[in-house]
Order: sequence, then structure tokens, then C-alpha cells
Amino acid sequence: MEKMKWEISDFDALGRIGKITVNEKQLITPNLFPVIHPSNNLISTSDLMKIGAKCVFTNAYIIYQNLQIRDIILRKGLQSHLNFDGIIATDSGAFQKYMYKKSKLDIQAEDIEKFQENIGTDFAVILDEPVQPDDDYETAKKKVDITIDRAKDNINRRINDTCFWFGPIHGAKFDDLLKRSTIEMSKLDFGVYAIGGLVKSLLNYRFDLVIRTLLTVKKNIIWNKPIHMFGLGLPQFFSLAIACGCDLMDSAAYVLFAKENRYFTLSTGTRKLEELEEFPCHCPICCKYDPKELLNLEDQLRTELLAKHNLYISFSELRTIRQAIKEGNLWELVEQRIRNHPNLVTASKLIKSYLPLIESHEKLYKTHGRLYSSPESVQRPLLYRYELKLKNNYRVPKNAKFLIILPELDVKREQSPSIKKWLEELDNNSIIPRELLHITFFSNFYGIIPLELSSSFPMGQHEAIMPLNVNGVIHLNLVQKIELFFKNFSKYYSKCGILIPENFINQFNEIVEFPKKNILKKLTKMLNSRFKLQIASSCDIISLIQYFKSDE
Ligand code: GUN
Ligand code: ZN
Repeated sequence: MEKMKWEISDFDALGRIGKITVNEKQLITPNLFPVIHPSNNLISTSDLMKIGAKCVFTNAYIIYQNLQIRDIILRKGLQSHLNFDGIIATDSGAFQKYMYKKSKLDIQAEDIEKFQENIGTDFAVILDEPVQPDDDYETAKKKVDITIDRAKDNINRRINDTCFWFGPIHGAKFDDLLKRSTIEMSKLDFGVYAIGGLVKSLLNYRFDLVIRTLLTVKKNIIWNKPIHMFGLGLPQFFSLAIACGCDLMDSAAYVLFAKENRYFTLSTGTRKLEELEEFPCHCPICCKYDPKELLNLEDQLRTELLAKHNLYISFSELRTIRQAIKEGNLWELVEQRIRNHPNLVTASKLIKSYLPLIESHEKLYKTHGRLYSSPESVQRPLLYRYELKLKNNYRVPKNAKFLIILPELDVKREQSPSIKKWLEELDNNSIIPRELLHITFFSNFYGIIPLELSSSFPMGQHEAIMPLNVNGVIHLNLVQKIELFFKNFSKYYSKCGILIPENFINQFNEIVEFPKKNILKKLTKMLNSRFKLQIASSCDIISLIQYFKSDE
């Protein structure tokens, strides 16, 4: 039998599109394993497949404990028992111990691991020791060590070459333990690395802890294997988690939430069925029923239908995410989805601390222009890359003596009638030789963009929320970027002129008033107090040229 393959075909942010091949079955990643009971499910596996499931996760420990099912499955094999021909993964019982705080499982690693090989699992999980949120450091360390030792034992015991293994990574609460767990597990041969012990954080919507854990693992893990996250099943969190490097997840949330009449949405969070007048979704369930009709059905049927809707939404979101990866638009999608819950916004703010890691995986070029439409856009890796480029890889044109800063308007460069006119005035002026003038643009997201870079990717291919109506976060970020430019380059100029027009002509040929309360005025003052360079602002090009003239 061939070994497991995972071929990556595309990526965006830390998200990757890949194809897993095991036992002649294939699975596109990123993907979700719906968790199912080994013998008692509201949704049949053939329905799961219709909804879009290409893989399922079930529990070998439950099978092992039930002598009757155990015998049947040992005889028939798991695939035939579940009547599912996609990829089947099984968990080891560690979750039961973690979730229900059983102090001792009545099972040995050796037995449950061998059992998983015997029932024909494609992906088995070793018997790990999840760290509890309230474990102290010593306890957590012991558990991390036990899991690493079990992983080594598991490798020595493997006999079935059609069974591939999940290597669990633990220690989330303690950075150094998590790092050690990641590095040690990375040295051992597993098909998939799986981040564990996060279910309780996920249930409490502590997305920041989960993202911090994921990014720490990504910093330290080998790059050619998929990363799984146990228990991640809320679709509004998929895009952020995938952008941070999650390739696979498993969850029973779709059915557990359905049991409490909770309906997944991607826009306003999980909703109680009782609160809904109309369904916002157009999956087959939502097309057929309205909320009242569902409420009036008997419990079991209602739960089944809600669980189906929850899964439809989950798989639809995964398709949306994979498409966004192919288009290079994953961050744009994330910025929409995090509006779903404040804790998602909070979690997304962690990106900023991991920009060197994330930027190094960002594509050099994308075929679509970038859209910067939310405060979180300021932490896009491409903006960070531009900052690095200016710092390490940019020189002011040789003869430049006068720095000119023009505001970016509704559209870029010559597409804007006003900018086109300003550039012509500068090019054709007979007072200052053109090569002494260095023209730059003032961009809300990039800071200063020199004219000669302004058409290159991504600076020339972006649209941003309207210039100068900036809010707090964008403003702070901007000031920092402008200061950086001046720190690096102000010494090359003798004067700087900032154009603050009274009005401008937009792309529709309408005259628009330039905002009176604008950041450029403040900036002129701030820069003058901080840098030796003489800085003045004016409302027309000719006055700027006169201002330079006095220095020539
Ligand atoms: N399911 C959810 N969390 C975990 C975990 O930490 N380990 C295992 N084996 N299964 C899980
Ligand atoms: Zn629906």
C-alpha cells in the first residue's frame, strides 16, 4: 500500500489547499471531519456525504467498550459498518478523559492503538494526555512528556501500514511546554499533527487562546504535514483559523448545537431557532421549512434537520474559504467573518505579533487587487512587507532634493482627474528642475508611497476606505509609518511640501470638498516638531514650488 500523500497546490496567508491521499481515498484540505457516533446517529452517513462530508471522525474507545458493536466492527471493518467510503478517523478515548475528567481510563495505550489498526481506521489518534485548562505547570509538563513518550512507543508498535496516525500536541497554556511538545512531536513520524486540549476554550469562545496556540505551533512545526485542530467546529471561526494555518478539524458542534435549537449563521453568530422569523440560508432544509415549522416538529426530526443545516453552512464556508485561498483573498474574507463575534476580532489582533512568520509565507504577487476596508486591515502582511521593503531595500532617487507628498484620492494616480493635473503641473513647471522633485503619495494604509513604486504590486492595486476619514487604529498605524519614512529618508531632502487641497475632482467628475478636518494638517505640525527638515503645506502645487524655489 502506498504511503500517505499530502500535496499542496495553493496557499494564502498560512492557509493551504492540499490533497490528502490515503488508502486510495482522497480529501481536499482544509476540511472538516464531522464527529459521528459509531452506531447511533441522527444523520445517516449517506446523508452526510450528500451534504458534503468527505471524511468522518468517530470514537474507537466507545466501540471498544461496547462488546456487541466491537465484535461486529472487528468482523466487518469500520468502513463497511459505517457504510461510508470516505476517509475515516477514530479517536482514542483521550477526549473522554479530558472532557469528563475521568481520572483513569480503563484502557491501555497499547490496546486502544492496536484496536484502531484492527478495525481499519484510515487515521487513528494515539492515546494522548490532554492538559486541562486548570492544570498547574508541573502537571501540564508531566502530561506533555507522557504524550511524547506514548508517541514514541506508538511508532515502535505500528504494524498496519494502512493506518496513519495523528500526533497530538499539548501544553497550550504554557508557551514553553507547547513549543517543546511541538518540536518533539515534529521529530516523530506522524501523518497529521493535531493540536489538542482546546475544546473547553472553544466552548467558551476564547478564540484568542486558540489562535495564540495555533500560531505558536505553526512557528515551530515542520511544514509538510497537515495541522489538525481537535474540536474546532464553529464555521464563523473557520476562516481565521485556516488563515493561521489550520488544515483539518473535527467537531460534533453541528449536532450538539442542534440539540439546543441553535442555528449556525456566518453573519450574526449562532442563533436560537425561537428567535428567527426567517432563515437567512438557502440550504435544502432552509428552503423547505421556515423557523416556525421546524419548531413544531418532534424533537428528533427537528434536531436532525437543524444539524443538517449546521453542516451545510460548515461545508459551504469551507468551499468559500478554499476559493478565497485560490484568489488570494483570505484576509479579506477573515475581516468579514470576524464581525460575527467580538472575541473573533480580539483573536484576530494577535496576527500583528506574528507578522514576520506570516509575511514570509505571503505570495509575491496576486492577480486580484487588495481591499482594505476595516481597522484590522492595518495588520495585513503585505503592508508589513512594504514597511520592510522601505527599510531594507529602498533608495531615494539620486537627485531628489524636495519631497512632495500628494494625498491619495478616490482613485489612483492618473485615473484621478485631480492627481493627473497635479502631476502635469509638477512635470511641466519651469521653476524647479523636475529631477529635484521627489513625488510621493500619502496612503492611509501604506504610509508614504514614492511615485516610482506606486504602480507596483500591491501598492498600485489596492482600494481602501476613503482617505482621511480615519479612525483611531488606522490613524495610529499611519503616524507610525510616516515617522518611519521620515526617520529613514528625511536626511536626503532639504524641504518637504505637503499638498492639502481645498477640493478635488473625483472619478465621476464631481467636485468634492477635501475634508477640512484632515490628518495631513496634524501631520505637518507633528513632523515639523520631530524632524530637522523644513515641512510646509499648501493648497496648490504652484505655492509648493515657490516654497521650494526660495531654497534653490
Ligand atoms: N478531542 C478533543 N480534544 C482532544 C484531545 O486533546 N485529544 C484527543 N485525542 N482528542 C480530542
Ligand atoms: Zn440552511
